[in-house]
Amino acid sequence: MGLFTKDIKTMDDLFTHTLRDIYYAEKQIVKALPDMIEKASDPQLKQGFQTHLRETENHVKRLEQVFSVLGQKPQGVDCPAIDGIIKEAKEVAGEVDNKQVLDAALIAAAQAVEHYEMTRYGTLIAWAKQLGRNDVITLLNQTLEEEKATDKKLTSMAESQVNCKAA
Ligand SMILES: [Fe+2]
Ligand SMILES: [Fe+2]
Repeated sequence: MGLFTKDIKTMDDLFTHTLRDIYYAEKQIVKALPDMIEKASDPQLKQGFQTHLRETENHVKRLEQVFSVLGQKPQGVDCPAIDGIIKEAKEVAGEVDNKQVLDAALIAAAQAVEHYEMTRYGTLIAWAKQLGRNDVITLLNQTLEEEKATDKKLTSMAESQVNCKAA
């Protein structure tokens, strides 16, 4: 995508662009999660991040399947949004000097990531329906459901234990 060329002309192009965006984002999340696993103190949170790392590796593979169904080569495109969310998470984590407060900060950062993913998959599913690409909806939906479940788990961990230990 060039600065002076308008490469996105159709909804199909826009769909592909957004697919490449989330493909890049999922790969960045795979790279970021090990650091979050290491920083987490609460055993349940650590375990939750570990589980989601494995799920995220699978999200990358699912997207590769989507590209393949569409007859396209898997390709990423820079996603400044996810880069920003991850950068901010690292910066905040670096400023926190208390393990319990750090756990609360990690959960907040992880939920920002999950919500970003949820908007992308939600949009892709809506566009796939509109474009008559029902063949990729199931794959996209499986991932969306895992993102939603992760977000819910993070909320319950925060509200049931992490936030009160930190406060
Ligand atoms: Fe994901
Ligand atoms: Fe996720």
